[in-house]
Amino acid sequence: SAGGAAGASAGGAAAAGEGPYLPSSDVMGFIEQTDDAVYVDNGHFVTIDRSGMRAYSFDGAEASYAVTKVSREFADAYKGDYAHYTLKEISEQPDTIARAGTGGGEGAAAEAAALLRACRDGGRSVYVTGSGTSYNAALVARHVLSKRAGLRAEPVMSSEMPHWPEPVPAGSVLLALSQSGESADVIEAAEAARRAGASVVSIVNLTASSLAQESSVVVGMNCGPEIGVAATKSFTSQLAVIHGLADEIAGGGGGGRAGGPGRFDAAAAAAAISGVLSDHARIRELAARLKDVSDIYVLGRGVHYPIAAEAALKIKELTYIHAEGMAGGELKHGPLALIDSSVYVIVINPGDSTFDDMVTGAREIRARGARIIGVSDSDSDVYDHWVRIPRMADESLYPVVEIIPLQLLAYYLALERDTDPDHPRNLAKSVTVK
Ligand code: G6P
Repeated sequence: SAGGAAGASAGGAAAAGEGPYLPSSDVMGFIEQTDDAVYVDNGHFVTIDRSGMRAYSFDGAEASYAVTKVSREFADAYKGDYAHYTLKEISEQPDTIARAGTGGGEGAAAEAAALLRACRDGGRSVYVTGSGTSYNAALVARHVLSKRAGLRAEPVMSSEMPHWPEPVPAGSVLLALSQSGESADVIEAAEAARRAGASVVSIVNLTASSLAQESSVVVGMNCGPEIGVAATKSFTSQLAVIHGLADEIAGGGGGGRAGGPGRFDAAAAAAAISGVLSDHARIRELAARLKDVSDIYVLGRGVHYPIAAEAALKIKELTYIHAEGMAGGELKHGPLALIDSSVYVIVINPGDSTFDDMVTGAREIRARGARIIGVSDSDSDVYDHWVRIPRMADESLYPVVEIIPLQLLAYYLALERDTDPDHPRNLAKSVTVK
């Protein structure tokens, strides 16, 4: 083979064959050159010279290594006709959502659900962890797993796990979310959970990644290569996998709400996303209005709060505008002091149990002069601008759809502000250091 590959301190990929060798912290760094990868074990290092590549442990003993074939699908990393990978990846979501949960091997989702169901039935709560966007998915998981499957899942940021007062209990499960499977914080959390006697169930896009290797069960997101530094399609795939797991746990009997209007229907979600994606004009127009604002607040209650956090993260990453995601009811407890006529506030406001309280809060904000953008399935006189989303069959099904116009808004705002949406300053796609 023509070789190529990678090496990373936390066990990223490394070389194969005759060379050239391409050290990288993530297979995406070389996938356009080769699909042969070597994952360097923790505590090992490699030397690469004209005679080839060798792996050693730190006590100097030569170590063997294996060449892994990375899914060919990951070589499909071209922009095509899209101006940016970020736009391509946002646009792919009707397709990627349908593929979520496959790619981790036959029966992986059922196996993961069985482990999680055993925790629920044994009265054990589970931890769910991730970084950045994957942590926001963990916050959604907390709602969906509890509401749909009766499973208590405590979300903890991976970088906070080492400082958490209780380790993951022995016999319980750490549900680890990571697109790359190479984030050092997530891998460290998984290692600690295993040491504590817990099982690790991971939801990853790269199923040969270091996190996957730490896991008892790997459920693949299977959304194809995500090149844009800001996570977009991987987020909705994570949500789809979580819904699939919740339905599978609930289907196994016991405390969940199997079936019914909350059941995840990938085809219906894909159609709803396609509907939102069919009209970019209104979002572009909104981006043009927002391009010079210095502060944007995004509010959501309940299962919509994580989407507010995720939307604010997208705006920060892609546009460098200060944006904050907040639980809708918290603004009045302090941040309201920041509101004046220079501010825009985005309210995530579907017609569900959160609607009335959100409208009341939005009126308070509007009275202070701020402009309100409502992301909702129904119009209201409190909105200065209405971003329409389709009505969904259940509250817990909105997040996968309501994030889409906000991803687009962050993208078009980046274009308005002349920042590079695919390569935000100071950020890396995979953070393989602590
Ligand atoms: C980096 C990226 C973020 C991403 C986070 C977690 O910080 O810039 O966009 O959400 O890592 O990545 P992961 O691959 O673990 O999901």
